Formats: sequence, structure tokens, C-alpha cells
Amino acid sequence: MLNRPRLLSCALLIYCTCLSIAFAETEQDRIARITTPTSDFSKPEKYEIMQAGAATHRKRINGDAFSHPSANMAFDRRLYFELGDGIFKKMWVSSPASTKSSDGLGPLYNARSCQRCHLKDGRGEAPDGLQAESGSVALLLRLSIPPQNDEDHARLDSGAAASIPDPIYGGQLQNFATPGQTAEAVVTVNYEEIPVPLSDGAVVSLRKPVIALSKLGYGPLPDDLMISPRIASPMIGLGMLEALAATDILSWADPDDSDGDGISGRGNRIKSKLSQEMMLGRFGWKANQATLKDQVTDAFSGDIGISSSLHPGNAGDCTPAQVNCINAPDGGDAKSGNVEINDHLLDLVTFYSRNLAVPARRDVSNPGVLAGKKVFYEAGCTACHRPKFVTPRDPLRPEQSFQLIWPYTDMLLHDMGDALADNRPDGFADGREWRTPPLWGIGLTKTVSGHTNFLHDGRARSLLEAILWHGGEATDARDRVIALPTGDRENLLRFLNSL
Ligand code: HEC
Ligand code: HEC
Repeated sequence: MLNRPRLLSCALLIYCTCLSIAFAETEQDRIARITTPTSDFSKPEKYEIMQAGAATHRKRINGDAFSHPSANMAFDRRLYFELGDGIFKKMWVSSPASTKSSDGLGPLYNARSCQRCHLKDGRGEAPDGLQAESGSVALLLRLSIPPQNDEDHARLDSGAAASIPDPIYGGQLQNFATPGQTAEAVVTVNYEEIPVPLSDGAVVSLRKPVIALSKLGYGPLPDDLMISPRIASPMIGLGMLEALAATDILSWADPDDSDGDGISGRGNRIKSKLSQEMMLGRFGWKANQATLKDQVTDAFSGDIGISSSLHPGNAGDCTPAQVNCINAPDGGDAKSGNVEINDHLLDLVTFYSRNLAVPARRDVSNPGVLAGKKVFYEAGCTACHRPKFVTPRDPLRPEQSFQLIWPYTDMLLHDMGDALADNRPDGFADGREWRTPPLWGIGLTKTVSGHTNFLHDGRARSLLEAILWHGGEATDARDRVIALPTGDRENLLRFLNSL
């Protein structure tokens, strides 16, 4: 039988449990309220200026604006960031070399360091003409062929592979080779101009890239080869995008457009080499990488030719058909399992990639910027470029834990129409789909990287050109921009430039 004190403590327990459930709900409700897109454009929103929460940096805006660590990083962790920065900038050399720790380049490669493509931790510039002469190495060509047999289909369906590489040229075209080796091809990008009239009488010319390959090093390319050009994307805020709960992201997916707004949105999926599990794809222009570590190891192997525990094979993307390349000397180190970069250094670069801080917004209270923000919301841009989220709590990643962030992406794939299609499936993304890229920091592209090339292959020469290329699910939003009065259009660009 219950005596009075027992009854009391029992009641107290029930009361406390209810209270904590009520509080848990309150936090969920609070998050839902805070992340609901605003409809008040008369003044900036609270915290809007701090685009990546407490990790946002407020340092002086100059060419280094994308190179600072998360502002909320504890002092003792900054050393890891700086060591990671060193490896990101390191120029790899071919084997054999006297500097054992930096060799292993290639034998086939696209660039000698991460930084050569991710200029000042920002995005790469699109080549114009002969890539080798344009000074820009930041555009790479992904290669694949359609599945040839049951085994290929099984690899794609299980997410073990995002695509089937060309049996000779591999999964990516490397246009550089170490001494004594043959580069795969010379890449030339020319452009065709397409005029687009706007409703106020202005005409914007869009340039459509036409890619040509010459001096093929390993024989003719197969007729069914699929090529996807990709430009190096900016490195800021990536840890926040990795932190977002997959369930949150997938809750916005609407693959069959059941709400009839013309916008579907799907998550890509891929088997992570790190977790060995099928996961939501997040990184790359088609979201074909699940985690930053997966992305970083693939970049080391595919772009520079450096192997790691997650991506062994010291000849990088060389195929068995490229015999000379397979047999070349490599930089494998017996102490670290015969790979060219060990796990410790890999973790440092991953930590660095997770913690490049997003700069604070500028001019948030400027009336033109606020008016442009209204245009951005009313034109339907926020259907894909979702303004704000709260990241989950994660004691192991304090910089990214429980932050209100403003990345302007839903992390989902969207059909962007024929003009942007690469017609090359990548994981579960089809040949017309691209992942909505985050827009934070986009107004500082010129300041940081010295150009204003946008979109997956850098074809857009300005923010307006990038918008005018939108098609597919984004056709209505683009048409609304075409129809805007001049002043509203200028304000929209003011808003984007303040991000
Ligand atoms: C040859 C140029 C090039 C080099 C070198 C290069 N990258 Fe990249 N990087 C790219 C391209 C292109 C993409 C987009 C890839 C895609 O869409 O598949 C990318 C994407 C990324 C992303 C994902 C960004 C996002 O928003 O999804 C990260 C992280 C990254 N690279 C890190 C690195 C690291 C670390 C290195 C050095 C080990 C490196 N990259 C070397 C061109 C390069
Ligand atoms: C249906 C989803 C969708 C809508 C709606 C949409 N976008 Fe996009 N946006 C994307 C995708 C996907 C890309 C990347 C396309 C590519 O690279 O080929 C993109 C790219 C961009 C870029 C270039 C980003 C970069 O990093 O290169 C800008 C700027 C941009 N959008 C602005 C806008 C504006 C402004 C609007 C509203 C007028 C808008 N978008 C509406 C999905 C959308």
C-alpha cells in the first residue's frame, strides 16, 4: 500500500516528467517558430546578420573572408584548423621525391593542391578557351558510362557506386600527368552567347559552354560516354550542412510534388565509405557525397592522386588499362598501411573543411537590401533556397552544435531544366537534377576569388545570369525575375550581394 510520502513523491515524479515533456515540446515549437520564413520585410530579423550562428566570423571583409575558423572554436582546437589549412595548401610532388611526406602526386591529376581549385577557400573560375592556358584548373570533368551488366546495376542500386567509370579513362578526366606519364586530354571550353530579353527592355547575354577534348592520351572515347563538368565550390559553412539532421532535410522532400507547387525536391543517397551505410548525399553539385570525410578522400584520390585508408590505390583514378600509370612509383608509406596520406592528416583536413567560417551579413538594414529580400521570398526562391535552420545538439562538434543558421538551401535535388542538364546520372540524381547550392557568402565571391562565375560549371558571369539559367522546377521563379521592374531586380541583386 502507498503511504503518504510515497504518494507525494510519485505525484512529484509524474509532475516533473510532464513538465520536462512540456519543455521538450516547447523547444521543438520554438525551433519551428524561429525557422518559419518571415513575412515582415520592414526590418532585419533577429540574428539574421549571423548567418552561421555563433560560428559566423565578423572579421574585416577582404580577400581572406572565407579563410577564418569558426568564430566559436575553442582556442585549443585552432591548432588543428591551422594544421589542416597547411595540408589544404600543400603542393604535392611526384614520387620518388626527397620530401617523403609530400610525394605521391598523380600519376594523373587535375591540380597539385586543394587550394589551386578552391581559390582562397572560395569557388573556382571557369576556363575560357584552352584550359591549360586560361590558368584555371578548377573545372573538372566527371566521366561515366551506362551500366553494362547486372553487376553494374547492383553497384548502382546498392549505392556502392554513384556511377560506372569509363573502363579506360576512369571516373574523372585528369588533364595533367607527372613526368614520363601521359595526360588524358587537353580540355577547351568555348562559349555560345544566348541573348535573353527582360521585360524592362534590358537584354542579358548568357554564355553556354561547349567543351571539346583533344590530344586524347589513351585512345578514342566511347560513344556512350557521359561527361559532367563541375567547378570547385566554396568551402565555407560546410560543417553546418553536414550537421543538419537528415530527417529534417528529408521532411521537405516532395518527390511527387504532392502539394502541387511545381517544386518537388529529392534527397540523393549514397553508401558512405566512412560509415559503410547508405546515407543522405549532401556534398558536391549533385549531392553525391554523404560526409565531408568521404568528399575529402575522394578529392585526394581523384583530383590529386593521393590515396588514403578510405580510398586506397596509389595510382589514383588510373585504370588497369593505363598500364604505365599503374606501374609508376608511388608515395605509399609502409608505416600507414601503404597509403599516401595517413588518417591523422586526413582528419585534420576534414576538420578544416568542416570549420571554415561563414562571414557575417553586410547591410542587413539597408532599405534596398530589405526590399530585395522581399522580392527573393515573393518570387519563390525560398522554395529551394530555404532560409534558416537549427542544427541538432552535438557535444562532439561544439562549433556546429545547436546553431540557428541561414544557408539558403534545402540540400535537395531539383530538376533544373534542359539548359543546365548534364544528362549524366550521379547516384540517385538524374541527368537534369542539381542540389540547391547554399547562397551564404555568395556576395563576396569577387572579393575572395577575384571573379563572379556561378553555377555547377561556372558558366554564369554574374548573379543575374545565374538566375536566368534557372529552368525546370525553377521556371516560374526565373520568369518572375524576368518580369520584375528594374528597381526590384536591382534590389534582389543587392540582397544576394549582402549574403
Ligand atoms: C581540380 C580541382 C579540385 C581540387 C584539386 C580539389 N577540389 Fe574540392 N571540389 C572540386 C569540385 C569540382 C567540386 C564539386 C564536385 C562535384 O560536384 O562532384 C569540389 C567539391 C569539394 C567539396 C564539397 C563542397 C560542397 O559544397 O559540396 C569539398 C569539401 C572539397 N571539394 C574539398 C576538397 C579538398 C579537401 C581538396 C584537397 C584534397 C580538394 N577539394 C581538391 C574541385 C577540386
Ligand atoms: C527549384 C529550386 C530552385 C528555385 C525555385 C531557385 N533556385 Fe537558385 N538554384 C537552384 C539549383 C539547383 C541551383 C544550382 C544549379 C546549377 O548549378 O546548375 C541554383 C543556383 C543558384 C545560384 C547560383 C549559386 C552558385 O553557387 O553558383 C543563385 C545565385 C541562385 N540559384 C539564386 C536564385 C534566386 C534569386 C531564385 C529566385 C528567383 C532561385 N535561385 C530560385 C535551385 C533553385
